[in-house]
Amino acid sequence: MPRVKHQKHMYKEEVLEYSKEELRFGTPEIVAQYRAKKLKCNCLLEVGSSIGFQTFPFAEQCKHVIAVEIDRTKIERARKNAKLLGFTNIYFVHGDALEKKTIERVKDICEDRKLTINNIFLDTERKPDEKERSLKTIKPSIPKFLELYSHHSENIAIELPPHMQHEKLKPLPEHEKEYISLNGHLNRLTLCFGKLKKVNTSLVLLPENKRIEKKDNKNQLKQTKEITEEHKYLHEINPAVIVSDLLSELFPATQLFATKKKLYLLSSRKINSSLLQPYKILEITDKDNLTDALNNLNTDKITLRGNIAQDEYFNLKNKIEKDLRGKNKYDVFFFDNIIITEKL
Ligand SMILES: C[S@@+](CC[C@H](N)C(=O)[O-])C[C@H]1O[C@@H](n2cnc3c(N)ncnc32)[C@H](O)[C@@H]1O
Repeated sequence: MPRVKHQKHMYKEEVLEYSKEELRFGTPEIVAQYRAKKLKCNCLLEVGSSIGFQTFPFAEQCKHVIAVEIDRTKIERARKNAKLLGFTNIYFVHGDALEKKTIERVKDICEDRKLTINNIFLDTERKPDEKERSLKTIKPSIPKFLELYSHHSENIAIELPPHMQHEKLKPLPEHEKEYISLNGHLNRLTLCFGKLKKVNTSLVLLPENKRIEKKDNKNQLKQTKEITEEHKYLHEINPAVIVSDLLSELFPATQLFATKKKLYLLSSRKINSSLLQPYKILEITDKDNLTDALNNLNTDKITLRGNIAQDEYFNLKNKIEKDLRGKNKYDVFFFDNIIITEKL
């Protein structure tokens, strides 16, 4: 069986069939490999398999994979792709996972091959342009899916849009929210049921393969409305830490600085963490004194950050830089005050 290649975007050299759209919604290879190892078992049922970006890593780890997909074109592509890769342990089922016919077909495959489904994975379909995520628009319906499939196995992993509000998940049975950050960006949210649930919330960092579990920590970070002389470092935060609500657990000795758009951490010491981008605070100033402050710091070029509208960016940057005479490059945050910083 050929190995699935470890490339940035998988299977590029494998001449597999897929459309731009299918690639866009397909699972990135590092995530697919991570998940396949996590769900490794004798027989796995995958629902919403599309053209196979997640199915093939599953088929490398599991002895048998049953892959269900509602879209005929996609499942035909997946079949061709599986053949190209030499997989013989995937049983494809075309149909709506919630329909009796499809459930019967899955049952027949299990009976014919004397298989018991150990783990189930559902990758849901969601509207690409929704402003606010809702369980109601997700296909197939998750409560219905759980009702129909839990008797096969209670060990179910369901992928959801990562920005789904926690409140909206409350009606679902007990589960772990596993957030995945890929290369510093929030990439996936997987709900884990049954034995796949270890804690209430976790964060997995890839490619580092580091897992952080949320304990029942009731501490809240102190919030500040203003950056002052006591703050020496400002940190941008990987959004995955914010949605997984792990800030106070991971960085207890910091203060939270919230603007309309974004959260930052402030501290008296630099924090070394792959989850944060630190900036050393050099000067706190205002609009009237900005040019002098930058020239005192021997500045030549600046990157603007904070509350800057995209269409104002270059005008403002050029206007400030034309009066600068130095050789240093600094990052300038526009909040109520203006904070000149050095990116570390
Ligand atoms: C996000 S895509 C899956 C992507 C896939 N995991 C990958 O990595 O390429 C979700 C898939 O679920 C399928 N789907 C949606 N509703 C379904 C249903 N009721 N039964 C089976 N498949 C369904 C869609 O056709 C779509 O291919």
